[in-house]
Amino acid sequence: MIDEAVAAFRQVFGGAPAVCGVGPGRVELLGNHTDYNGGCVLTAAIDRRVVVAGRCVTGYRSRVHSVYLGQTAEFQAQSPAHDPAFPWADYVQGVAAVLSESGLVVPAFEAVITSDLPTASGLSSSAALEAATAQLIAGLTEFEPDRLELARLLQKAENEFVGVRCGILDQFSSIFGRADQVIYLDCGSLQHELLPLGEAGRAGPAIVLCDAQAPRSLAAGQYNQRRAECEQAASLLAVALGRPVERLCDVRLPEFEALAAALPDPVDRRARHVIGENDRVDRARQSLRTGRFGEVGKLLVESHLSSRVNFENSTDGLDLLQDLAVRQPGCLGSRLCGGGWGGNTVNLVAPQAVDEFAAAIVAGYRSVTGNTPPIHICRAADGAQTVRL
Ligand code: GLA
Repeated sequence: MIDEAVAAFRQVFGGAPAVCGVGPGRVELLGNHTDYNGGCVLTAAIDRRVVVAGRCVTGYRSRVHSVYLGQTAEFQAQSPAHDPAFPWADYVQGVAAVLSESGLVVPAFEAVITSDLPTASGLSSSAALEAATAQLIAGLTEFEPDRLELARLLQKAENEFVGVRCGILDQFSSIFGRADQVIYLDCGSLQHELLPLGEAGRAGPAIVLCDAQAPRSLAAGQYNQRRAECEQAASLLAVALGRPVERLCDVRLPEFEALAAALPDPVDRRARHVIGENDRVDRARQSLRTGRFGEVGKLLVESHLSSRVNFENSTDGLDLLQDLAVRQPGCLGSRLCGGGWGGNTVNLVAPQAVDEFAAAIVAGYRSVTGNTPPIHICRAADGAQTVRL
C-alpha cells in the first residue's frame, strides 16, 4: 500500500513524499448504536487501510489527490470550505481544520490517498481517512498527538465539519486498534480494555465480512434521525424514572423492561435495541475474557435480530447474508455491522471453515439476487501510524 502511494505521488506531484499516514478501517463486532448513547462496544481495527502520502509545500493552499477517484482537491486548513465537487476532501480538510483550531500550526501540504478499504460499506473508510490524514500531519509537523485527544478531535471533525453526528466508535477503533485483539470500549468514560481474539497456540475465529453492496451514506439522514429518537427515549425514560437520564445507556436492561410500556412506538423499540446491545456487549466481554467464542457468536445473532425488528437499520440484502451465514458449519455468529442500511455483515467463523463459508455465501446470495457479494477475510490489526519515508 505504501509503495503504491509513493508511486502515485511521484506520478501526480513529481518527486517523493516525506511521510505516510496510515489509518485502518474498523469492524464493529457488537454494540450497535451504543456509542453516542454512552454505552459500550466491542470493536477492532482491521487489516484494510487508507494511506495518505505527502510532503509540505510553501504557501497556504494544500492539494490532495484521490487515486481511486482520480480527482485533486484544494483547500486551506485555516479557512476550510466545502467544495460540493469533492465531498471526500471534507474528511481531509476537516481534520486539518480541527488540528489547526486546536493550536497546531498545520503547514500546507500535497498528498495522495490510496486505499484497500472498501468505501461506503460500513467499515469506516471515513474514520480511516481522518486518522491517516492526522498521522500524516503529525509526521509533517513532528507532533506526537495524545491518542485519546486525537480520537476526540477526529470525531469533532466529522461532527462539525462533515456534518454527521457519529459517536466516537470509528475514530477510536482506527487509532487504538491492536493486532489480534478486540477493543472493549466504554464510550461514556472512554476507558478501554483489549481482549484477545484467540490464544497462544489456538487460533481464534476469523473475522469475515460479507458486503451487501447497498449504497449507504450516513449523512443521508437515517442515522441522525435514529439518534434523535434515542434522545427522545432518554427524555421519556427520565420522566418515567423520576431521575435525570443523560444518555440512554444510563438505563440498565431490567429497569427498561419495567418501564418499556411507558414509551410510544417506535421509540420503545429503538431504546430496546440500544439498551439490549449494551447488555449484550457486557456479556460478550465476559465470554471473550475466557475465550468462549461460541457464546459471543450467539450474541451477534441476537444483535442482528434486534437491528432488524427494533432499530430497523437492516436491509433485505443484509438479512439474506446473515440468514445464509448462520446456516453454515463453523459460523459462530453473524450480524450487520456499523450504522446499517447497507454495508457489511460481520461473521465469526472457525478458521478451518473459512473457505467453505465464503463459497457458500457467494453461491447462496448469487442464487437469490444474481449478484456476487464481495467477501473480506480479515484480521484484527494495529491502529493508525505515521511512517517516515
Ligand atoms: C457508524 C457511526 C458510529 C456508530 C455506528 C453504529 O459507524 O459512525 O459512530 O454509531 O455507526 O454503532
